[in-house]
Amino acid sequence: MINVTKTYLPNKEKYKQYIDEIYDNGWLTNNGPLVQRLEKRLADYLGVKNIVLVSNGTIALEIAYRTLGLKGFVITTPFSFVATTSSLVTNQLLPIFADIDQKSFNLDPKSVEKLITPNTTGILPVHVFGNACEVEEIEKIANKYNLKVIYDAAHAFDVKYEGESVLNYGDISTLSFHATKLFHTIEGGALIINDDELVQKAKYLINFGIKNAEEIPHLGTNAKMNEFEAAMGLCVLDDIEEIKNKRKIISDIYKKELKGLVSFQEQNVNASENYSYVPVVFRSEEELLKVQKALNEKQIFPRRYFYPSLDTLDYIEPKQTCEISRDISKRILCLPTFAELTCNEQNTIISTMKKAL
Ligand SMILES: Cc1ncc(COP(=O)(O)O)c(C=O)c1O
Repeated sequence: MINVTKTYLPNKEKYKQYIDEIYDNGWLTNNGPLVQRLEKRLADYLGVKNIVLVSNGTIALEIAYRTLGLKGFVITTPFSFVATTSSLVTNQLLPIFADIDQKSFNLDPKSVEKLITPNTTGILPVHVFGNACEVEEIEKIANKYNLKVIYDAAHAFDVKYEGESVLNYGDISTLSFHATKLFHTIEGGALIINDDELVQKAKYLINFGIKNAEEIPHLGTNAKMNEFEAAMGLCVLDDIEEIKNKRKIISDIYKKELKGLVSFQEQNVNASENYSYVPVVFRSEEELLKVQKALNEKQIFPRRYFYPSLDTLDYIEPKQTCEISRDISKRILCLPTFAELTCNEQNTIISTMKKAL
């Protein structure tokens, strides 16, 4: 069976050495030495000033809203994983959907400005599939209307914009380190925060709002990463360049072989790619379903990321419609890509698709 992705498992002996360290010092969680080590290494690797590790990418978003004190309406994209929207709703924030750009699949800055009202406090764009948003346009709008910007950068590990980490844009960027991601810590996530005071606040919020033995200044939660997860991250980080290189090769082959049969996401020309996904767009939903069926018959399971478009979710009121996002959602499929995908497996995927088309 070939799934859309396969978790990268680093060398077991290396992981065991970290587990031995955890057993020796008996420190399993609560900002342990491995979490601290991973924070330092990731900050250096990614080129960011501050990083706060947390237990998953969804809670990273929630902590970001609370750190910035968002209220009321937040303008976001309907073309994302459901957690982008559901995390707003569970924090009593109303998602206002702006449509995406037809080619980049990212929030279209032109559609954002029209939707701003006195109730709007923030913008939540997603660097979808690791494709950097139009960060300068979004910054201009945010400055003009005094809005906070949180980037859901769950897919944008190590993406650079004009040579600098794209994670440094906005007030906060959040990452997901779920097992299916390019870089992972089994479950996990992070916040990249420029302002040092806000870093301190986020650190209290992930630990129940506790400041010290006598003071609990904030309403917090439990969002801490544990030492076993940090150990996995330290191992995966050692291999990340190799993982990225393999994915680049896979992505280049798909693009070469499927050119003219499907269309691809248009990349931000000022940004680097991390090759974490290979989304392809078909001419119609029928065509997509035909290809999906042919692949499934060979035990190959691409995923309909992102489907359905989040503006169709039943629990969002008032109802909103984003035509471009709905259209792309129906016609897009993410093809299998992971470091261990073999040439033979990729050839089977490509030939099956060609035949079905
Ligand atoms: C765009 C986006 N945001 C948020 C999340 C949530 O991250 P996690 O699964 O780590 O909670 C994901 C997860 O896949 C995602 O793709």
